[in-house]
Amino acid sequence: MRSIVDHVPDPLRDRLAASLPTRVRRRVASRQSPVPLDAQKLELIDLAVDRLDCTSFADLGGLWGVSGGYSVYAATAHDTHRVVLVDDDLHDRGGCATADARVVRQRAAGLPNLELLAGTMGEQRVREAIGHVDCVLFFDVLMHQVAPDWDELLAMWAPHTRAFAIVHPTWDRSEEVVRLTDLERHEYLRLVPSLPLHDDLHHHLDEENPRRGRTWRDAHDVWQWGIGDRALGDRLADLRFRTRLYADHGSWNGLPRFRKTVLLASRD
Ligand SMILES: C[S@@+](CC[C@H](N)C(=O)[O-])C[C@H]1O[C@@H](n2cnc3c(N)ncnc32)[C@H](O)[C@@H]1O
Repeated sequence: MRSIVDHVPDPLRDRLAASLPTRVRRRVASRQSPVPLDAQKLELIDLAVDRLDCTSFADLGGLWGVSGGYSVYAATAHDTHRVVLVDDDLHDRGGCATADARVVRQRAAGLPNLELLAGTMGEQRVREAIGHVDCVLFFDVLMHQVAPDWDELLAMWAPHTRAFAIVHPTWDRSEEVVRLTDLERHEYLRLVPSLPLHDDLHHHLDEENPRRGRTWRDAHDVWQWGIGDRALGDRLADLRFRTRLYADHGSWNGLPRFRKTVLLASRD
């Protein structure tokens, strides 16, 4: 959902934007993020606010490739009192921050309602630090999660929120959950995005990934799961979360078995 003022040339756009109501102006400003953001993820944040009155968010795994852009958006486009960005890559390793971490630290410095929390989403310390938020965002992260697995993570976070906003590549067989890394290499490579990390994976599955302190087989750097819609919906229902909104946006980047889906669920 893009605003009409996004399509107007710059000086005129600024004048127009300034004349807009605060709420719309913030949305426009947030869409001018230094990195491109996905319109459907932004819209899902808007819907969590508008339909479920969410004013606090945890953005789990919100760093890579978007520099915490969805957290910044949630913190600036609405009257949100608290947003926490959690990411393992907010840890400086070897004294070095990633480029994404540097960008979001700069942006967060001016936003008192945005907190940055280095850690993994499975850690109890992280959940305790967050306490309760109205909505937990899982944007393109569930398919990476092992030990705790994606469904265990949902169960861990359920007591800490009343809504889940999920955008991810969904396995196209609704009832199935497939552990992708158990597949033969050629089949794995046929199904997942073409990346150097994926290409090498089967040559060192049981070697340690030093960055994560676990084997590559269990590391979140690579695609781990195909999660069908029904399997996800059943897991949410077990946790007493009902799907309020669902959309299927078609093939995920042309992959043969994954579709891009958007889901907002809230506690019964
Ligand atoms: C594919 S990127 C998704 C980024 C963003 N949410 C988006 O929608 O574009 C996955 C991000 O999640 C982080 N991540 C994945 N698993 C994690 C975990 N278990 N704990 C903390 N961070 C994790 C990675 O470091 C990375 O920044």
